[in-house]
Amino acid sequence: MSSPSFDQRDGVIWYDGEMVPWSEANVHVLTHGLHYASAVFEGERAYGGKIFKLDEHTRRLHESARLLDFEIPYSVEEINAACNALLREQGFEDAYVRPIAWRGSEMMGVSAQQNKIHLAIAVWDWPSYFDPAQRLKGIRLDIAEYRRPDPRTAPCKSKAAGLYMICTISKHAAEKKGYADALMFDWRGYVAEATGANIFFVKDGVLHTPTPDCFLDGITRRTVIELAQRRGYELVERHIKPEELDDFEQCFICGTAAEVTPVSEIGPHSFTPGEITLTLMNDYTKEVRPAKAEPQKQMAAAIS
Ligand SMILES: Cc1ncc(COP(=O)(O)O)c(C=O)c1O
Repeated sequence: MSSPSFDQRDGVIWYDGEMVPWSEANVHVLTHGLHYASAVFEGERAYGGKIFKLDEHTRRLHESARLLDFEIPYSVEEINAACNALLREQGFEDAYVRPIAWRGSEMMGVSAQQNKIHLAIAVWDWPSYFDPAQRLKGIRLDIAEYRRPDPRTAPCKSKAAGLYMICTISKHAAEKKGYADALMFDWRGYVAEATGANIFFVKDGVLHTPTPDCFLDGITRRTVIELAQRRGYELVERHIKPEELDDFEQCFICGTAAEVTPVSEIGPHSFTPGEITLTLMNDYTKEVRPAKAEPQKQMAAAIS
């Protein structure tokens, strides 16, 4: 392993309101979150010292917890402030930010009515999720064996740790076959998303993306839709059948970690990263970087 294990890094972790040394930010083995997956988390990226859409992420964290029937004992504003303070303390400009909330150890069984709710936040340096050279050519996706569950089976709008079990199994199976990731269908058999990112297709200059009715409506997905609208691209949100995969010309996935990443293959189906994909990839890169003050505005401010 080239980089140090995640429990052996330098710096501090924000843990229940305190900055604790990285190696001391531990939980007991009898933690409800570990045994019963009663944990929710976020994945955020900071660009140039600013966490992109931090407030939206923190609100989703609160909502994810509510869907798992617990309340995080810190307000959205307190969590935002903690994320920002930690980013400064760790001294990163470009970084990944991981808040996680979980049920503690007071009760050990399915019922966890008395368990304390904990919150921790870690920040680390994290470059491209996929190999950068591969990313430009387009990554290859396997087709996953597992499907995104019916909303009647699981709280699919929660970024809940338990829902990632099928993602890890699917990503491992894909990696064993030499793929970078896997496309998951949903419980009905429609195209859903990758194991940690949403998906878009292009055909005849029109963007198509699955309706997020049983998987995360990602913050990056919503940003990409906004960027596409700004460009005047036509976009259709709808159920997409697997047999349509052959008809699409371009494909890309998007998420906080993946950013906008072109896809060249999904199982037997091939795509060529084209103008719309590359434009949105560049637009996203510009969007996430904090705006630099324009010289004219600076001048006007200096005069007034
Ligand atoms: C399963 C899954 N779908 C979609 C996304 C994209 O969400 P976002 O753009 O909010 O990061 C993620 C990443 O968090 C994810 O893990």
